[in-house]
Amino acid sequence: MRIAVASDHGGYDLKEKLIPHLRNQGYDVVDLGTDSAASVDYPVFGKKCAEYVVGGEAERGVVMCGTGIGISIAANKTKGARCALVTSDEMARLASAHNKANMLALGGRTTSSTDAARWIGIWLTTPFDGGERHTRRVALLSEM
Ligand code: RB5
Repeated sequence: MRIAVASDHGGYDLKEKLIPHLRNQGYDVVDLGTDSAASVDYPVFGKKCAEYVVGGEAERGVVMCGTGIGISIAANKTKGARCALVTSDEMARLASAHNKANMLALGGRTTSSTDAARWIGIWLTTPFDGGERHTRRVALLSEM
């Protein structure tokens, strides 16, 4: 599976820790930047990653800023992006099971790399629950 990752400076350190972890797990990781801890604008990187995922160049996307808030807002501006800001194991599970999230947002200043790696693993391996209720809701999101 190909995973696109992107961050601003607030998520840069976390991104740099997660990339080797994901590659060691066998994922094909595409790093869309940023490339240093120098200050950049999170909307640029949220949009870049969302367009990559929605365009079919990666199956999933992981975006990081200081809190995960700004970059998740940015990612969700792209039609077809379902970017979930996750702060617990249960949220990581439900992001896949109920929301069929194709992107995950994490806070580089609020989340340890250990927690982040575990949440990504839960999100990637939890199947969508499906069923009429969740399928209808995801379809409604797709129309927006
Ligand atoms: C950048 O300082 C910070 O505002 C950004 O990384 C993010 O937390 C915004 O939501």
